[in-house]
Amino acid sequence: MKIAVFSTCKYDQEFLEAYNTGHELVFFEAQLSMKNASLTQGFDAVCLFVNDLADQQMMEQLEENGVKVILLRCAGFNNIDLDAAGSAGIKILRVPSYSPEAVAEYTMSMILTLNRKTHKAYNRVREGNFSLEGLMGFNLYKAKVAIIGTGNIGKALYHILKGFGCQVMAYDPFPDQELVADGLHYGTLEEVISDAEIVSMHCPLADENHHMINHITLQLFKQGAMLINTSRGGLINTQDVIEALKSGKLGSVGLDVYEQESKLFFKNLSADVIQDDLISRLISFPNVLITSHQGFFTREAMQQIAMTTFINADAYAGGLKLDNEVQI
Ligand code: NAI
Repeated sequence: MKIAVFSTCKYDQEFLEAYNTGHELVFFEAQLSMKNASLTQGFDAVCLFVNDLADQQMMEQLEENGVKVILLRCAGFNNIDLDAAGSAGIKILRVPSYSPEAVAEYTMSMILTLNRKTHKAYNRVREGNFSLEGLMGFNLYKAKVAIIGTGNIGKALYHILKGFGCQVMAYDPFPDQELVADGLHYGTLEEVISDAEIVSMHCPLADENHHMINHITLQLFKQGAMLINTSRGGLINTQDVIEALKSGKLGSVGLDVYEQESKLFFKNLSADVIQDDLISRLISFPNVLITSHQGFFTREAMQQIAMTTFINADAYAGGLKLDNEVQI
């Protein structure tokens, strides 16, 4: 197939070229937008990442341009209008699981950094400041941690946290019976967030759970609790999180995702004036760690993403069963 690959960095190109099973690939650095949608003319497929928005208008344009299938290089599909895809007759194929361990391990690194403040210690020591003032953390051993969403990533995180001796609890509308048998305690969202020292988000973003962490649910958090979001920015109301940080309700926040990330993440904006006041305020807090959607970013995950993308492309091109189709 002729595939237009959007939002590509050097590393995407490297892995996709290495695992290509014979398709014609054209790489575009830019995100797919209505301004550049004409580039998709004559392509059978477009290959998209987390911040490429394919809404109704885009679907109509893709259909008009002859695109038959969208190959997502990610698991989440909150950026895709599925009804519009159905009307346009465009199939959506994704990479349902590439390395849940990569995201779970990254989540753990955010917890450890925020708790023991190694990012601050690193800078202090380089400037000859060997003081421990302000660096005190707490033992993760026996600490209560709530996992919101125990799918592939939440499950991998559970096993890591268990290794640390944490008391893990979870909320998921579909509890995993294997994890229950392994000793994981499930409760309601309200129960688990009000009992935990650390709350970590691992559920997909949908209309029903948009801003599920907001001024109401934040009131339930323990004073000084840690909130981690490596899932999707839209799960939390950023303004409400800022207020909770200012009041001390939240003691620390780790974000690998941000609701307005599409304008910022994966780009070098170091010479620009950031126009997004919410993220600028977040960055100014000493107890907030923000990273640019890098939870997935390991060699193994990149290999898996590339391999599955071409398994999907081959299945579609060969008229085979589409195991990774997002059901519309
Ligand atoms: P998954 O589909 O295996 O599991 C999701 C779990 O969330 C399921 O058990 C589901 O029942 C549960 N769930 C659904 N709605 C819920 C709600 N309202 N409250 C609590 N639980 C709910 O997904 P997986 O692979 O574990 O990924 C989770 C999310 O992580 C993805 O949707 C994506 O947004 C994010 N992600 C982030 C990456 C990063 O680089 N930071 C990389 C990959 C995924």
